Amino acid sequence: MQCALQLAAAPPAAARASTSGRRQQAAARRAVAARAARVELQDLDGTMHVLEVADDETVLDVALDKGLDMPYDCKMGVCLRCSAKIESGKVEQPGGMISEESQAQGYALMCVAFPKSDCKIRVIPEGELVDAIMEIA
Ligand code: FES
Repeated sequence: MQCALQLAAAPPAAARASTSGRRQQAAARRAVAARAARVELQDLDGTMHVLEVADDETVLDVALDKGLDMPYDCKMGVCLRCSAKIESGKVEQPGGMISEESQAQGYALMCVAFPKSDCKIRVIPEGELVDAIMEIA
């Protein structure tokens, strides 16, 4: 009888595994949220938006997922349509076509910009980046 009560009180193995899986998923979501950068993004109209961008996401992808109207074309760091200026914070831009000098001046391409800290980013007309590139060259 005592043995039967112990069996009745213990959750079935499948339920224990399910609870464990949910805990692991929740921990994974918390870990992603903890790594997400807060990005304050000013669009071409001057409207400010706040995005949470995980370290494996680009600013452009998160903005588009949120339904924001952003300028872009190639999404490969080539066309310069998604030009932006980093007002504060740090992004990495692997594979983008703008020079290190331009990046050092704060220019970025949102389609290849992975925030590495909280950032303030201003979307700029692509002509502004082209002018800056011509001044540097
Ligand atoms: S969309 Fe072409 S450079 Fe970003």
